[in-house]
Amino acid sequence: PSLSAILNCDDFEEVASRTLNKKTWAFYSSAATDCVTKRANRSFFERIWWRPRILRNVSRVSTKTRMLGHDIGAPFFVSPAAMATLVHPEGEKAIARGCAVERIPQCISTNASYRVEEIVPTAPKGHPFYFQLYVNKDRSQSEALLEQVYKAGISAVFVTVDAPVPGKREDDERVTADESLSTPMSGAKAKNDKKGGGLGRIMGSYIDASLNWDDLAWLRRSWKGKIVLKGVQSAADAKMAADAGVEGIILSNHGGRSLDTSPPAVMVLLECQRCCPEIFDRIEVYVDGGIRRGTDVLKCLCLGATAVGMGRPFLFALNYGQDGIEHLIDTLKDELETSMKLLGITDLSKVHPGLVNTLDVDHL
Ligand code: FNR
Repeated sequence: PSLSAILNCDDFEEVASRTLNKKTWAFYSSAATDCVTKRANRSFFERIWWRPRILRNVSRVSTKTRMLGHDIGAPFFVSPAAMATLVHPEGEKAIARGCAVERIPQCISTNASYRVEEIVPTAPKGHPFYFQLYVNKDRSQSEALLEQVYKAGISAVFVTVDAPVPGKREDDERVTADESLSTPMSGAKAKNDKKGGGLGRIMGSYIDASLNWDDLAWLRRSWKGKIVLKGVQSAADAKMAADAGVEGIILSNHGGRSLDTSPPAVMVLLECQRCCPEIFDRIEVYVDGGIRRGTDVLKCLCLGATAVGMGRPFLFALNYGQDGIEHLIDTLKDELETSMKLLGITDLSKVHPGLVNTLDVDHL
């Protein structure tokens, strides 16, 4: 179908399910074991209701905000996802060009199909890019990579902490991987083995499972920019992260791809509101996992998030190249503007927890 027939994230996903090759679909869509968390990431939003306000002159609204020191066009960003050339030859470069139009930040994965220095120049100077780091067992490799990233002009690194080992993604294991696949920044090459062809697993063996809180000191020495921990899954760790002095955290369960039955990220956001509300004044808090609608974005902001990330939607939209990315962003931004108007706010500085009704989940 043409882009004009694509009205939302699910439409992109439906087209992808029919047109992507079997392996790409398996890798992108899969999640850990019974996929409970993947489903809950979405369905949890149905348990949070609005408290809309009326008669607020909403003829004009703005979705502009700030993230990690950048002005951005809307409060959502591209979560880091591996190997975008599986769906489109221009991969992360096409995502960058599409994001540049509305100043949507893009976080580039360690497992991206291109190197940062190939991706960054495709967007105008000053475009907000971030880099996602998987810490290598060989720390000197991570140090060299961080230097390369800083030289490319990137000022914040998202260190993934929810995947010391890959989750068991069975749909992906069942389909054999093309052994010519490799990712330039990690240096990993695909090799099927007796467990199967799960790409996250067979290309992730360089990741250091020994990573721990003490390593933040090493990271500070090796990286001059801001640090965000990606994959915080409890209020206790959100508080530890703030105390450790990082600039931000992403409440995330890796899109349900790591530990199955981990709580949906928004449930953790609610837990933070209840158990450590002071962190929201100390660090920036982001959320990703299952965000597919303007209402999802806005609910997270009301509950204290600075912005939210999306993984799979950008990969599925990339099926249509740069045009798909632009269309996805326009669609989400439009849904967000409509939601803001119907909720009764005109700019994002007006969000607050009183605009959502969480009675259905407050007993959790
Ligand atoms: C991911 N994710 C991910 N995260 C990360 O820190 N480094 C990575 O290389 C990847 N790679 C990756 C590949 C694919 C195919 C997917 C779907 C996801 C997780 C990603 O950043 C994000 O947390 C989730 O995708 C968010 O969930 P949704 O938006 O996909 O539901």
